[in-house]
Formats: sequence, C-alpha cells, structure tokens
Amino acid sequence: MKTRITELFGIQHPIIQGGMHFVGLAELTAAVSNAGGLGLITALTQRTPELLAKEISRCREMTDKPIGVNLTFLPTFSAPPYLEYIAAIVEGGVRIVETAGRSPEEYMPVLKKAGVKVIHKCTSVRHALKAEKIGCDAVSVDGFECGGHPGEDDIPNMILLPRAAEELKIPFVASGGMADARSLVAALALGADGMNMGTRFVATKEAPVHENVKRAIVAASELDTRLVMRPLRNTERVLKNAGVDKILEVEREKGDKVTIEDIYEHVAGVYPKIMVDGEMDAGAWSCGMVAGLIHDIPTVKELIDRIMSEADQLIHGRLARLTGRA
Ligand SMILES: Cc1cc2nc3c(=O)[nH]c(=O)nc-3n(C[C@H](O)[C@H](O)[C@H](O)COP(=O)(O)O)c2cc1C
Repeated sequence: MKTRITELFGIQHPIIQGGMHFVGLAELTAAVSNAGGLGLITALTQRTPELLAKEISRCREMTDKPIGVNLTFLPTFSAPPYLEYIAAIVEGGVRIVETAGRSPEEYMPVLKKAGVKVIHKCTSVRHALKAEKIGCDAVSVDGFECGGHPGEDDIPNMILLPRAAEELKIPFVASGGMADARSLVAALALGADGMNMGTRFVATKEAPVHENVKRAIVAASELDTRLVMRPLRNTERVLKNAGVDKILEVEREKGDKVTIEDIYEHVAGVYPKIMVDGEMDAGAWSCGMVAGLIHDIPTVKELIDRIMSEADQLIHGRLARLTGRA
C-alpha cells in the first residue's frame, strides 16, 4: 500500500508505533521497522542523551530499516536537555522524529537543519495546523479514544480525522483506537494516510514489558480505562487499577483544588513498577479504549502482516461487494 506517509518515511506499510515510555525500546522499534512499519524509540525513557545514543546504536544492530525517535515535551519545571537529546538522535543517523506534548517550534530550526523529518502528534485541528505552519512534515492526530494524553477537547476520531482532512495539506496518520485492518481502512476512508498505534503494540511478543502488562490489556474491555488529572488540565487515559482508583478518589474529594502533590505517589515513578516489575496496581499508566479490541499477543510481524492482508480483503472483498464491484 502506497500513501503519502509510506513515501515520506520510506516504509512499506502505513503503520507507525507511537512513542511509549518504558515500551519504546530498541527491541520493539526494530521489530516494527523490520515488519515494514515505522518503529520509534522513546527518547526520555533513556535517562541521559548518552543512553539514548546507546539505545539507537543497539537498535541499529537489530534493523537496517528506517527508525525514528519520539521526543516528548513534558510539562515540568526542570526540562530535560532536549538539544542534547536531538544531537544524540542526529549523530545516531536517525532522520525521523515524532514530537509530542507541546509545539516543537523552538526546535524546528535545528531539526530541519539536520534534515530530520518531523511528525508532530497532537490532539486538535488547531494544533495540527500550527504544526503544518511551523514546517512539520506530517502530523499524528490523536483522538479522544487514545491511550495517554488526549488533550482537553474530547473530540473522538470519527469527527477529528475528517476535520483534519478538511484543513491540512501535509499528510497525517490516525492515532488513538487503532488496532486492526478495520481501523486502518476506516482511517484511510476518513482522510488519513496511515495509522499510529500505541496500546496494540504493547500486547505483542517483542514489546519489552512484563507479561502481566500484556495480559492486563488482553483481559481489559473498552470500559476499563479512566481519565486522570483532568482537574490539572493534564488529562491522561490510563488502565483502571487500585492506584488509579485512589487518584480518582483524591480528585473527587479535592475537586478543582487538587494539586500534583496530592496524587504524586500514584503518578510519579509508576512506569518501571508496571512495565518492569509487573505490579499492576502501582498507579497510572497510559492505555487506550482500544484494549477492548485486543484479544491476543502476536509477534509484531504477525500483527502487521495480518492487518495488511485483512485490509486488502476488506477493501477488495466486503467494500467492493457493497458497491457492486466484486
Ligand atoms: C504505555 C504507553 C505509554 C505512552 N507513552 C508516551 C510517551 O512517552 N510519549 C508520547 O508522545 N506518547 C506516549 N503514548 C501515546 C502513544 O504514542 C499513542 O499516541 C497512543 O497510544 C495512541 O492511542 P492507542 O493507545 O489507542 O493506540 C503512550 C501510550 C501508551 C499506551
């Protein structure tokens, strides 16, 4: 399948693995890229730019296909040394960066000077247009369904994607709620040039996370995610667990007066406990509603091959029959 996204990134299939804290390590990135998609290493999971450089070279030993790096701009007071992370990316020969969290405007000159293609992940048409204006090559449009940070507008992809298609000139991928061939074909029909998946890729054999995490995603239904940190305007969609129940209880009690300190123990330092130790009640970790569509733990290649072959059947079979063309 050829789309503006496969052309832009030089990949076989229009499928991207979104940046994921403590999941987007070399193993998963290489598996996705080797299967013909675009895998992304998550920069900030590496505590220093030096460690990111090592992770990039570790990944390079596992694949010679294009890979990218996710650079998430966090709402923190002590910002990580982003310019040094960018230097590690560029020196590592990576020429694709997914930015997220806030506008990458300040870093565009240095990224563009190094010949990096930038795909910015955002949750609204206005932010996507801003990304286009500042020179991003593509955007990833993250609907309200998504695992992680859906923003504060609450617009699901059924509306957000065709709205993005109405306004944008640059290519975009659908992100949030994407799991299978149906998602891909629907995303293309709504105007996207491919899809970005997070939660679906966590439940794969190569995802370097504890088995409990993969089992929890398979066991979860579409009803099992919760939104935390709404009152802080830093909304995150997470899988329900005892730690998350505690956050919601504190948020209910304190209302608009809740501060990050009130919930700190259930949101900070949680990822290693969940992803490495498999302590599934440790607190908030991103997970999408799409968990309801995830019923197995295939290899990445099985997953991507299945998506592409079923998409073909869907287009040339069911849809063609409905229009009397088959
Ligand atoms: C476990 C997990 C961790 C994530 N961490 C990040 C992150 O560090 N940076 C980022 O930009 N997005 C992060 N995301 C969001 C994904 O890149 C992607 O946008 C999202 O998962 C898409 O929605 P889906 O889960 O419905 O596929 C994370 C998602 C998950 C499930």
